[in-house]
Amino acid sequence: MTLALTSLSKTYPGRHGSSVQAVRSLDLRMDKGEIVALLGSSGCGKTSTLRMIAGFESVTDGGITLAGRRIETLTPDRRRVAMAFEGYALYPPLTIEENIGFGLTARGLDRNEAAKRVREMADMLEIGPILKGRPAGLSGGQQQRASLARALARDADLHLLDEPMGQLEPQLRAILRGRVKAALKARGLTAVLVTHDQTEANAMADRIAVMEAGVLQQYGAPSELRDRPANLLVATFLGEPPMNALPATVEPHGLHIDDVAEDALALPGVALPAVGSKVVLGIRPHRLHLGAGVWRGQVISNQWLGDQAHVVLALGSRIVVAVAHQRVPVRVGETVPLGFGAEHAHLFDAASGRALAHGTASA
Ligand SMILES: Nc1ncnc2c1ncn2[C@@H]1O[C@H](COP(=O)(O)OP(=O)(O)O)[C@@H](O)[C@H]1O
Ligand SMILES: [Mg+2]
Repeated sequence: MTLALTSLSKTYPGRHGSSVQAVRSLDLRMDKGEIVALLGSSGCGKTSTLRMIAGFESVTDGGITLAGRRIETLTPDRRRVAMAFEGYALYPPLTIEENIGFGLTARGLDRNEAAKRVREMADMLEIGPILKGRPAGLSGGQQQRASLARALARDADLHLLDEPMGQLEPQLRAILRGRVKAALKARGLTAVLVTHDQTEANAMADRIAVMEAGVLQQYGAPSELRDRPANLLVATFLGEPPMNALPATVEPHGLHIDDVAEDALALPGVALPAVGSKVVLGIRPHRLHLGAGVWRGQVISNQWLGDQAHVVLALGSRIVVAVAHQRVPVRVGETVPLGFGAEHAHLFDAASGRALAHGTASA
């Protein structure tokens, strides 16, 4: 284990004597050489967590252990952590080359090695041509890559990357995330990647920690989060379009979907809680099939997105989305049968959102 966060908490003083609890009792452990993504919506506490690890923000409570050392009270320069900041934080008077190479020789690389490292990082991130420029003359995307290059150029026990590709165009981002991941792995570096982009987290991370409102919701491999989400929040946050979530009540012969006038649904292989329990049934859009099944839905829209069809339907007073990988010949207003395999069902407790059961097949 390389990094351990133990009951880490951050409270900021707010206005009029109030306070903001940005991070709440966060426990997280990662191994040497791992890439972990902190994933969550804006304001969920990702940056606060990174800044506490790097030492730019004090911890309100809890501990941080890195490579066997307690570091939470050390000054940033003594933590052996490299960080790419959300706001880039480049030094304006220095060229991009000097920014990327800043401190490398002071930290033990000789001049040739340092120059070679700067060139490698710049080539990888496609900023070679702007090495002689200064930050003020560059676009946000170029400054962001310079900031990322500076962090990656350093040797450190831990690399912290705060939304490192948020300003880049989708095509470039897709190329660079593959290269950055390969570079981290080739050097055996340990990294925490902060992102609100689930594609980036899935593509780059060995494990993902999903946060919401300062609280860790689930921590695991991307496939684990997708197949066995711990709660409704993780279930609906990961996956596009989001998982369909239908409030339902457990009856003696299966599940009755609230506000949908159909017979109770038998879910073979899914352990149902006690009769009368209020639950939420979760089905991913690409597991909902049109043309056969126990439900009748009325088509609200049918859109072809170039490589997949998104069909929105009214099911009683509920709305569901079905995704198909070929065009679906249904018209708006038409009533069509639809259904799903019980092996793809997920069940959540209606009150707490906690997962109760997952079908036997993956997501
Ligand atoms: N310096 C600060 N002072 C007061 N509140 C802050 C400060 N920094 C962040 N916050 C608040 O803490 C919460 C978490 O912020 P942040 O860690 O930046 O989230 P994220 O990076 O996930 O968007 C937000 O409600 C934010 O407004
Ligand atoms: Mg942030």
